[in-house]
Amino acid sequence: MLIMNQAAEVFDKIVTARRAVRKYKEDASFDSDAVARSLARAVLAPNSSNLQTWEFYRIKTAATKAEVARLCMNQGAARTAHELVVVVCRGDKWRENSQRVLEHMHKSFSDPLTKRDRRAIEYYKRNIPLLYMNDPFGFMTLVRTLIVQFKSWQGPMVRWSGSANSRIITHKSAALAAQTFMLSMQAEGYATCPMEGFDEKRLKRLLKLPRKAEINMVIATGPAEEGGVYSDRYRFPIEEVVKEV
Ligand SMILES: Cc1cc2nc3c(=O)[nH]c(=O)nc-3n(C[C@H](O)[C@H](O)[C@H](O)COP(=O)(O)O)c2cc1C
Repeated sequence: MLIMNQAAEVFDKIVTARRAVRKYKEDASFDSDAVARSLARAVLAPNSSNLQTWEFYRIKTAATKAEVARLCMNQGAARTAHELVVVVCRGDKWRENSQRVLEHMHKSFSDPLTKRDRRAIEYYKRNIPLLYMNDPFGFMTLVRTLIVQFKSWQGPMVRWSGSANSRIITHKSAALAAQTFMLSMQAEGYATCPMEGFDEKRLKRLLKLPRKAEINMVIATGPAEEGGVYSDRYRFPIEEVVKEV
C-alpha cells in the first residue's frame, strides 16, 4: 500500500472530495471570508510570464447574483450559489502588466545586474511585445509567422504566431487560478461548480468589461446541498490517458 506523507494525504482528500456541485443549501451559513482567502491563494497559481492577466469578480448581492444566474442560463448551481466568482482574462492588459513586472525587476535586482537579470529584462522588453502585440490587419501575425518559420529551420521553436495563441495563454493561466480557487474552497469546507454555460456578451456588459476582455468561467460556490452532485464520478481508466514514453 502506498504510504503518503501528511500533506499529500490532506491534498488527496481535498482533490477527491471536490465535485461539481449543482445545488447549494440556501439556509446554511456561509463564511464569505473563505472566498477572500481562496482568491488570495488563487493568484498564487502559476501564470504565463507572470503577467497575471486575470481578474476575479465576486458577485455577492442578491440582485446581481440573480442577474448573473440568469446569464448563466439559470443553471441550478448559479441560482442557489451563495457567491459567484467570474474569472476574467485580461489579455488586453499585457502591456501595462509587463511594465509593472519590469519595474518590479528593476527595484528588486541588485547592482550590478547578473547575466540572468539582464536576460529577464530583455525578455519583458523585447519578447513580450513581440509575442503579445496584435493589430487589426494581422501584420504582427505575419511578422511572427516569418520569424517562427525562419527560426524553426535552425532548431526547436515555440510555434506561436496568431492572436489566438495569446488568447489561449491567458485562458490557461486563468484556469489554473480557477482550479486553485476551487480546491481552496473545498479545503475551506465548501463546494464549487465551474461553469462555461453563460452569455459572455451580456455578462461582460454587466461587469462593464472592455471588448477585449474574455470570461474564462463562472464559479458557483456555497455549502453543498444533498443531491447536489448529479452522478457518480466517472473517469476513463488512468492507463488510457497516462502514457509513458
Ligand atoms: C471549463 C468547464 C466548464 C464547465 N461548465 C459547466 C457548466 O456550465 N455547468 C455545469 O453544471 N457544469 C460545468 N462543468 C463541470 C463539469 O461538468 C464537471 O467538472 C465534470 O462533469 C466532471 O465532474 P466532477 O467535477 O464532479 O468530477 C464545467 C467544468 C469545466 C472544467
